[in-house]
Amino acid sequence: KTRGHGQAPVNIALSKYWGKRDKALNLPINGSVSISLPGLGTETTLSITENDRDIIRLNGTTLEPEATFAKRLSQFLNWFRADQTTAFSVDTSNSVPTAAGLASSASGYAALVLALNDLFDWQLPKESLSLLARFGSGSASRSLFDGFAVWHKGHQNDGMDSFAEPLATLWPELTIGLVKVDTREKPVGSTVGMQQTVDTCDLYKAWPEQAERELKTIVDAIQKKDFTLVGKTAEHNALSMHATMIATWPPIVYWQPESVAAMRMVWALREQGIEVYFTMDAGPNLKLLLQEKDQTAVKKAFGERDIQIDFIQPFE
Ligand code: PMV
Repeated sequence: KTRGHGQAPVNIALSKYWGKRDKALNLPINGSVSISLPGLGTETTLSITENDRDIIRLNGTTLEPEATFAKRLSQFLNWFRADQTTAFSVDTSNSVPTAAGLASSASGYAALVLALNDLFDWQLPKESLSLLARFGSGSASRSLFDGFAVWHKGHQNDGMDSFAEPLATLWPELTIGLVKVDTREKPVGSTVGMQQTVDTCDLYKAWPEQAERELKTIVDAIQKKDFTLVGKTAEHNALSMHATMIATWPPIVYWQPESVAAMRMVWALREQGIEVYFTMDAGPNLKLLLQEKDQTAVKKAFGERDIQIDFIQPFE
């Protein structure tokens, strides 16, 4: 084959990955569980080029080799070069804004690994590809799968047991709402944010145990389709992660005033008996968890405040 192709969805963590125990291997301090969003993600084609450097196109534009995105991608590709003279031509397109807390790096590295698998005809199982995607971005390990995925933190120092696996549960009523507060590039990347939190946040000491406990709670609740338990555990988990970020030095606050306004909307809706919860990643945008039956009510309530929501049915 002269050309490889891969396509992968973005994913939203319901219990979060925050903190690395090994930076070079991208090994997490705690496990996480996510839901993938079909239709939003990355499509990548890849070939070997005669050029002496990688050629990287993002959303139709060729990047300077020195651009942060291109450097990171080329560094990841170093794992896969036959020798130092091998150069790749990569054409990658996102259907989500890059680096806006909508996890384009997750779908990006998952799609790239699928394209490598296709180009080199490895025929590797998804779990092995998940382990490879992990080297590019931890959360990418979960983007090899549709539906729910659990990324096991693993126990080995070599990381061979740290990859994601799918959960069999299908949950057609589950709906995700994307509240886009700000889609510009985030000020502090997740790698730097995690490092700083691990190094300087006293509250973080409680995180690994809480995160592992909530991961189990959410996986059990998914299997029982207990929406209330999934929702409240996910929201509490996200707020706890943000609490550790805020309590680091210098402080990392990803929230904008509109993020807090949207949180208050969610809480007000719950007061009215409409069950909606939120989660947030390293950015100002909210991801809502709700059931299909409540979509109209949620849309109306946010619409009255001029806040637009994109709804996605992960199991459609
Ligand atoms: O894998 P990264 O570097 O994109 O980090 C992801 C960190 C969070 O999005 C905040 C949490 C998560 O589990 O996705």
